[in-house]
Amino acid sequence: MFSLRTVINVAFLTCVTAVSLKFNDPLIAQEGLGWPQSLQVAAGHEALMKLAVTLENQESCQVTTPGGVIFDIDSPPSNRFSRWEETCSLKLKEVREDDTGRWRLTATGGNTTVMGWTEVHVIDHKPATTAPPIILQDGKSMVQIDLSTEYNSYCLVAKPFSDSALVPGHCSVTLDKTTRAVQGTWYVLLGAPGRMAEVPMRREVVVEAERLDVGYIHDNNKLHLYCNILHTEKNITFCRFQRTSKLIGYHVVDGLSDGKHSYYGKGFLRKECGITIQNPIEDDYGSWRCTLGVNMWEDKVVKEQLPMQALISVAPKFRGSSRQPRDIEDTTIFVQEDSPLLVSCHADFSLKYCWFQHPNGSQFTPVRLVNEDQPYWYTGEGLAVGQCGITFKHVTKQDSGIWHCHMGPKRQAGIETTDNIEVRVTGPLAANKREIQARIGESITLFCHTANGNRPLDYCRFLSPSFVGFNIDSSVTKADAILDRFYFTPGRNITVGDCSLTISSVREDDIGNWTCAAIVNDDVMESSDVIRVFTVTESRYQAGVIGGSIGAALLVLVLMGYVFYKRGSTILSLFKRQNPPSLDGVSLQRMSGTTGVASRCSHSSNESERDMGIRQN
Ligand SMILES: *[C@@H]1O[C@H](CO)[C@@H](O)[C@H](O)[C@H]1NC(C)=O
Ligand SMILES: *[C@@H]1O[C@H](CO)[C@@H](O)[C@H](O)[C@H]1NC(C)=O
Ligand SMILES: *[C@@H]1O[C@H](CO)[C@@H](O)[C@H](O)[C@H]1NC(C)=O
Repeated sequence: MFSLRTVINVAFLTCVTAVSLKFNDPLIAQEGLGWPQSLQVAAGHEALMKLAVTLENQESCQVTTPGGVIFDIDSPPSNRFSRWEETCSLKLKEVREDDTGRWRLTATGGNTTVMGWTEVHVIDHKPATTAPPIILQDGKSMVQIDLSTEYNSYCLVAKPFSDSALVPGHCSVTLDKTTRAVQGTWYVLLGAPGRMAEVPMRREVVVEAERLDVGYIHDNNKLHLYCNILHTEKNITFCRFQRTSKLIGYHVVDGLSDGKHSYYGKGFLRKECGITIQNPIEDDYGSWRCTLGVNMWEDKVVKEQLPMQALISVAPKFRGSSRQPRDIEDTTIFVQEDSPLLVSCHADFSLKYCWFQHPNGSQFTPVRLVNEDQPYWYTGEGLAVGQCGITFKHVTKQDSGIWHCHMGPKRQAGIETTDNIEVRVTGPLAANKREIQARIGESITLFCHTANGNRPLDYCRFLSPSFVGFNIDSSVTKADAILDRFYFTPGRNITVGDCSLTISSVREDDIGNWTCAAIVNDDVMESSDVIRVFTVTESRYQAGVIGGSIGAALLVLVLMGYVFYKRGSTILSLFKRQNPPSLDGVSLQRMSGTTGVASRCSHSSNESERDMGIRQN
């Protein structure tokens, strides 16, 4: 239809001009004399049309509407129509949808008639100024984003934190690489057809990173744990769940069950990995680790990727059942000077970050190991499984002391979890405790072991304060103890680096400095450490002076002054000799809880008990 009309009009024009006008420019003849040829107008706007030539002696200017109504521009049927230039022209106000079509203008002057037309397209709908959020996947490269479905001549795009960009033609931009920095509201100005004013538009851009969605559901007599991958192109190859306190985990497969454990989720294809535990028992609550094997396309081949892991902390369904308190026992690391130092801690939830505080107050955040010259780097299986570790290339004596580990949980903001780790920078052989409190007649253990983990010893020897030497190993048992009192501590072994002497009944001449010595593994030099053994008496006397009640201390002072005054130093020595027996272990226990002396002593003995436990970690 359209093409037919065009043909007819062209023919008509050609006829008219052939008769009355001499056009030098054949182009004008071809395109007609209407200006503009085609016009897009949004409803409500004004449309302006005219003839491209001016007749010198124009007598009339006729308008023919698309509906076929003909009128002279000087006597329009409504005030929507008027002349806007001296030539034969038309201003059409408040354009409506039914104004679409071909508008003709005919000018007549003398024997000459000139005609032209303009195709008007009325755009009725408003461009959408809102649109659903654009969801992008983090880390993808060369991503094309279409910001508008409208047909437009150009657009101006303002991304968050970047300059505006003018895009000619269809409003679409290509990102070299998607990052979370492009996330937010993008402001777009569209150069829309038929409108003078640019059309503002806002698009929300969401950048979704691939991540694990983990959690658990209590469901009557079932417990479901899940670990689903969101926003990924990877496929699951295996799914494993493990109670972190257990060595053996579960190989979870869709459709497979052992009667108690089975797959939970919508299938590997939907990137879901979960486990259902029937009739969970108390042991099933607590911290679980999930591990997902994944693969993806890389250069047209499917490649295995690093497994993804996370921790799930399952609270019991009913609170109040015997929840185990978190193990907050401090740990001690024995490390040999100049070797690498690994300080680590862990949480039973996934971490967002972690950092360490050096005993001198400096802070260190573990970073990925990228080159050999780095002074320190992250060590561990990943923050996702709650592990935080930092390795320093060289440890020095200054690194000794209490380190604090700070762990930021991934799934909730708030307070960090902290842990303390004691670092002792020692020689190859180190005393676990460098001071041991002893009581005459009781048993003590002097324990030295290798730094930097377990390394075999060639032999193990001790030297007593009275310079008696012992060469011992696990063949020296309590039953055939040296001098009936000295034997190798049961359960320890020189092949794992233990050099440990138990004294079954401490005597006076055992008080003083002991030396443990050994050749560690392939070392050439013997290494040794010193342990000071002191008696309870000595320590209690000190404690008494510090912590004893002031009244008692004053009394003693007054008494001493009196004694000095009366009888001289001989009585003082007698006083000294009498004092110790009254302060033996038994009487101390009886005093406990009533005096400052006792509470101080029991405190210090607690401390030493805790120190003893450390090495078991
Ligand atoms: C119109 O044409 C007629 C006859 O063809 C002629 O006599 C007359 O002069 C012309 N008028 C003008 C204005 O050219
Ligand atoms: C993942 O699974 C889908 C559906 O089976 C398949 O089309 C796609 O190629 C797979 N991708 C990989 C990396 O195996
Ligand atoms: C603390 O120790 C670290 C590691 O030895 C060192 O780099 C840092 O300079 C020290 N900071 C202070 C304040 O001494």
